[in-house]
Amino acid sequence: MNADQARNALKQVKYPGYSRDIVSFGMVKDLRVENGRCVAAIELTSADPKVAEEIRRGAERALRALPGIATVEVSVGVKAAAPVAAPSSARLDHLRRRIAVASGKGGVGKSTVAVNLALALAKLGGRVGLLDCDIYGPSVPLMMRAAAAPEVRDEKLVPVESLGIQLMSIGFLMDPDSPVIWRGPLIAQAVRQFIFDVAWGPLDWLVVDLPPGTGDAQLSLCQTVPLTGAVMVTTPQEVALLDVRKASAMFQKVNVPILGVIENMSYFLSPSDGQRYDLFGSGGGQREADRLGVPLLAQVPIEMAVREGGDAGRPVVHAAPDSAAARAFLDAAKALEKRLTP
Ligand SMILES: Nc1ncnc2c1ncn2[C@@H]1O[C@H](COP(=O)(O)OP(=O)(O)O)[C@@H](O)[C@H]1O
Ligand SMILES: [Mg+2]
Repeated sequence: MNADQARNALKQVKYPGYSRDIVSFGMVKDLRVENGRCVAAIELTSADPKVAEEIRRGAERALRALPGIATVEVSVGVKAAAPVAAPSSARLDHLRRRIAVASGKGGVGKSTVAVNLALALAKLGGRVGLLDCDIYGPSVPLMMRAAAAPEVRDEKLVPVESLGIQLMSIGFLMDPDSPVIWRGPLIAQAVRQFIFDVAWGPLDWLVVDLPPGTGDAQLSLCQTVPLTGAVMVTTPQEVALLDVRKASAMFQKVNVPILGVIENMSYFLSPSDGQRYDLFGSGGGQREADRLGVPLLAQVPIEMAVREGGDAGRPVVHAAPDSAAARAFLDAAKALEKRLTP
């Protein structure tokens, strides 16, 4: 019995609420096997004593089951989360432009925009990755019809490829049967891994689907992902001035410029009479853009094809490229490209 075999045994111990184990999370700091005695040191950033206790018990059970082990000593230390160091830009050379898609509230079509914007950027010839960091509802795998869990190769997660886009989602790591409440340090740790421990190809664009809102979780995400800029998604409904101020304050705090606003569910073109109906009012996107002092990048109509395509894993830019919605996404992609190409 040696330390490698013991380490293998510890791979059975999942982090509570995750499908990933403590070894792949890098939490096993020291592991020694000598004369039937196995000593393991595990380090967590969660201050939750229940998590520590569950992991300790799991680790003891896994190690005791090994043949030839008489005594097992497992210590679990809790370390304060490391401050997020400013990543050296050299390590990000392969991710040229990193764009967050954000919204003040949920349900405005943020993920729909992230997915279709990614496809539109790819259509313009860019190499594109899509990173789904929406801890409250990671929906990108479904929208992109990517069911497979990412493989690990050379200690790196390999993005799942779908419709020509490289994908990674926090949903790949979450255990749907026992949801966890995400705490700041854990999110930061997972997201850092998404940026630095994923074998992203060289990318011209990394589009990041952020969780809705402008609270602590969003702020800590923005501090973790070194972003080039952010795109705000809104509906035409009058948005509270407060939400806009909060969003701009959040991005200012982390020095991320807001690049523009995409107004989603802007209008409905009746297929029967060609009439345009402003179902949710009008002008919200332009007003928000004006308040932020940024351009309105696109107005995306409400289309059956958008909703159906989203549910069926056939995003509209891919499945109905001539639709008004697809063209709006393409316009937004062109505007972004223009803005961010020196
Ligand atoms: N332009 C649109 N036309 C029709 N349905 C849309 C449009 N944009 C989003 N939807 C639908 O609205 C719902 C919410 O969109 P989603 O992108 O999941 O929002 P969020 O990520 O902001 O919570 C989904 O069912 C989606 O298919
Ligand atoms: Mg979403």
